[in-house]
Formats: sequence, C-alpha cells, structure tokens
Amino acid sequence: MCGIVGYVGPRGSEAVLLGGLGRLEYRGYDSAGIAVISDSLESRKRSGKLQQLRDELVANPIHDGHTGIGHTRWATHGAPNDVNAHPHIADGGKLALIHNGIIENFSELKAELLNVGVEFTSETDSEVAAHLVARAYRQTGNLTEALRAVVQRLDGAFTLLVVHEDEPDVVVGARRNSPLVIGLGEGENFLGSDVAAFVEFTRNALAIGQDQIVTITRDTVSVIDFDGNPVEPEPFEVTWDASAATKGGWPSFMAKEISEEPQAVADTIRGRIKGETVHIDGFDAKTLADIDRIIILGCGTAAYSGLVGKYAIEQWARIPVDVELSHEFRYREPVLGEHTLVVSVSQSGETMDTLMAVKYAREMGARTLSICNTQGATIPRESDDVIYTHAGPEVAVASTKAFVAQVTALYLLGLAIGQANGKVDAATLATVVRDLEATPTLIETVLLQADRIKTMAKWMADTQAILLLGRHVGFPIALEGALKLKELAYIHAEGFAAGELKHGPIALIEPGQVVFVIVPSPRDPNSLHPKVVSNIQEIRARGARVIAIAEQGDAAVLPFADEVIPIPLASPFIEPILAVVPLHLFSMELATAKGLDVDQPRNLAKSVTVE
Ligand code: M6R
Repeated sequence: MCGIVGYVGPRGSEAVLLGGLGRLEYRGYDSAGIAVISDSLESRKRSGKLQQLRDELVANPIHDGHTGIGHTRWATHGAPNDVNAHPHIADGGKLALIHNGIIENFSELKAELLNVGVEFTSETDSEVAAHLVARAYRQTGNLTEALRAVVQRLDGAFTLLVVHEDEPDVVVGARRNSPLVIGLGEGENFLGSDVAAFVEFTRNALAIGQDQIVTITRDTVSVIDFDGNPVEPEPFEVTWDASAATKGGWPSFMAKEISEEPQAVADTIRGRIKGETVHIDGFDAKTLADIDRIIILGCGTAAYSGLVGKYAIEQWARIPVDVELSHEFRYREPVLGEHTLVVSVSQSGETMDTLMAVKYAREMGARTLSICNTQGATIPRESDDVIYTHAGPEVAVASTKAFVAQVTALYLLGLAIGQANGKVDAATLATVVRDLEATPTLIETVLLQADRIKTMAKWMADTQAILLLGRHVGFPIALEGALKLKELAYIHAEGFAAGELKHGPIALIEPGQVVFVIVPSPRDPNSLHPKVVSNIQEIRARGARVIAIAEQGDAAVLPFADEVIPIPLASPFIEPILAVVPLHLFSMELATAKGLDVDQPRNLAKSVTVE
C-alpha cells in the first residue's frame, strides 16, 4: 500500500509529485505529503485525500525546487492523522524520508534511538528509518551509503525514498519486498511505486530487483545491491498510455473501467490466438503437455477469477486445478509435484500475500506463472513466466476490468494446455476461440443496460443485505458480486453456490430479501438451468425478491423473477464474463446512490503490500 514518487530534474517538483501522487492515490488515501529541496528542504503533509494536501499547498505554499519526494499513505502503524503522514523529517529538518511497507523490528530500533535521546514526533514505524538514516549520514557523509547502512538493520518489507538538503540534486531509494521502478527522462529521472507515477513524462523504465538501492540525479541512475555491488537494472518500455490513467470524461474511474471491460478482453486475447490455436509466450508444447496439475493463487477478486479458470482448465486440459487464497497456501505444507504449475493471479503484481506465496512455491521447486496486469511489477519478476493481462491501468480501488481480463488469460492457459496435451479436440478449440473473440462485442451489449441497472440501484439504495446465488461458473461470479457490494456499497452481501442453499443459507431468506441469481443458459443440454430455476422457486416461496441475470429469452425464469437482467446468448464459459458486468455496474450504482466514493472506498487500498 502507500504510493511513492521521487523526482530530480528541471521541472518544478511540486507539480510532478502531485501529478504522480494523483495517479498513485489508489494505493492509499489516508494522508499525503511532499518534501522539496530548493534552497533548503521544505515539507507539507496532510491527513485525508490528496486534495487536502493540495489545499494546504495553496494556503501555505512551498518554495518549489527541482528535487523532491511524495507519498500517499495507507495507514498501518499510527492513526491516519497529520503527524503520522509522510514525509518524516530528521537531521534538524535537513532530511526527509518516505516509506511503503512495514518495518517489523521498529520497536527495538525505536527503543535504541530513544535511549540515545532521539525525539520522535509520530507513532509510525517509518520515522525510525528517518532517524537512522540521519545518524548514518552524519558518519558517512553520503546519502546512498547512509541508506545502505540502515537497510541492513531493517526487517520486514520496505520501499524507502530519502532526500537530504546537503545533496540537493539526489534522491536515493531502497526496496525489499515492496515495489519501486525507475523512470528515465532526458535530463531528469523519476522513481515511483509503479509506472503510473511518471507515465506522463516518460515511457522508458528500469525495474529494480529485491534488496537493491538506486540513486538518481538529473543525468545519472546507479543501482547497487545491499552489499554495495553494482547492478545492471532491467529496462522495459511502458505500454500504458498516460491518458489511460485519467477519467476521460467519466464520473469515476470505476465507471470508465467497467466501460473498458470489452477492451480488456480483446487486448488480453490479442496476439495470443493465431488462426485457431492459442500461443502462450515462454511455454513450448512439451512443457505445456507435461503439466499435470495446477494450483492457482490469488486474493479477493483475483482468486475468484481463478475459480472461474479452474472450471475451464479442468474441462479443456483435463488436469486437476486447485484454487487457493495466497495467504493460506503459504502457511501450510502444500504437496507440489514435479509437473505442478503454480499460477498466481494479481492485477497489481504487488500483493504481498501472493508474492510471498509465489516465492514459497519457487522455493519448493514449482514452476511459477504470473498472470498480472502491471508491467515491471514484483510478482512477474519473481515468477518463471508471465502472461500479462492487457486491461490497462486500473485506478479504481475495486477491481472490475482486471477480473474479466484475468478470466480470459486463464482460459487461454487452459486452452493452450489442452491443445498441447491433446485433451481438447480441434472442433472444441476452434469454437471456444471464436467465442472468446466474440466476447468483447457481447459485453458491449450488456453495457447497454447501464441506465436500467442505475434505476434499479436507486430504488434499492436502502437495501441492507443482498445474497447472490450461482452454480458452476456462476458460483464464483456470485462471490465476486458479493465482494463488490461489500467494498463499494458497504452492505452485507454474500455469494453462495445455489446447491448449498438448502444446507443452511436458506434460513436467511425472509420476505423482501434481495437475491441475485446467476442463471445458466437453458440451451446447453448439460446445463444446470432446471436446478437453478428450482432454487429460485424455493427462495421465491419464502418471500425473496429475485433479480435474475439470465440469458435473453429465458422464458422459464420470467414467472419467478421480480427483475430479469438479460445477457446475450453465449457459450457456458463466456456466460460468467457477461454475468459479472451487471454486478459490477449494480455495485457501483448502489454505492453512488448512497453517496459513496466508488473509486476510493473506505479502509481499502488497491495494492495490498502488507501481510
Ligand atoms: O492486485 P491484486 O489483483 O493481487 O489484488 C488482489 C485483491 O486485493 C483485490 O482483488 C481486491 O480484492 C479488490 N479490492 C477487489 O475489488
């Protein structure tokens, strides 16, 4: 969590830092602050969203300079107030430090510093690092060496950026298990938690590895490891467009990102379907054919995409697939075979739980594949292979377009394995490939119902609890819909496998209880349609208010549903990609009807870089 940006160059730092923080605010919005070096070092910081800092800078302007650092916080240690906001200042006001992550041994270090008379102003773990670097700087007289000395003493996860008034054209950064990338400009250089920090200015970036320290000036970038050895950072080109990280006329990032769901699917497929075959970079046919088991790791929405992927991969590739929450996987002793592929799914590529699970899987000898949306992120760098979902930057904290792109990528993986091991026949492959290619247009059709869904949400603004039911691939969609309702509209929402209803959850049904039901197509002879219609009748009989997401023309549902949201005719594995769209729209509209901030829901951060 926390967004970090650093700049050295000819531009005014204040605008560069505020622009970068605006694009990184999805990482946390408990407070924001900047430190800038002009003749001397100055800092401003404010609790609350970035706008509070902007207002403060108008009321109390800073002397702008050409070197600076900025931070947007998701609070871990210490309340989200002005004092605990970053930067933290040390060395009599000459040094400023910002931090993303958690310094696990901060209590011992703080006690040590208090013993020698250091005064603390905040309750954060981060301030410890500021005072340690200040003391080390007095000994070394070199900011890079001072930071290098300090990181040896820190346990936990951190990205640290530091500036010092006595080295006015330098920003130094260090990273361990938290993200940091370098943006290369002409006569200027940038540091950021991700490329969104500087995408407005440059597309040329360098990825920094674990346990490395970077020093930027206007014209130089040098990277060393924590032992002081020089390191050659890996260059990459940023493919995201700067305009993709703006609202582009939409009322919220979320509204824009839901509208981009068709494009997210189309761009994730692009270049990976050739004729009627599927190609996954990094895997030859033999390697794919040898995979005999898959474990999918993820959290939240990413895990739900994994659940949809499980049904498809097992069907097409005929190999067992388990889906595990990353934080559970790591703390037990999973059984991994020689040919097990561990697939992590992560929009940000920085989720600490997933990163640690991937590292653990690698230590256990498994081959790891990252399905990720963010270039240069840590998880793909720590994995053997990567399939990038090309959903473009997702700024709204709750995930929408990334979900459909993740499902698409998992489908491609399942097809590629099935193709390689011969378990999917040519006709099925050709049909699914055609269905996938048609999916963006089908999602467009679903999006045409946005106004009707908005009206429904307005009527239901007072709803306190919503249940969601689905079977087969509809079940993970029910889970995803429930998560969106919780995080956006702050209501109790729960998704169930419809078959589970009679085993307990049906006790929750009372007159007026709103239940969304994801209804499979009646056209498929193997469909669970009749069973889901029976489930609808069971809850209807107990007074539930049923909103069915059902195939257009599904006459069997009409008599039993209070509302039907139709989705176009599609094959069984395309249905979940279509059915999730009304749930994304409804959650957003319900939150909007309640006057809530759909882009930055309370207590959340997009990139969860703490355990
Ligand atoms: O960046 P990741 O995909 O790894 O994030 C995983 C979850 O934290 C994320 O999906 C979260 O559940 C979102 N708030 C869902 O909208």
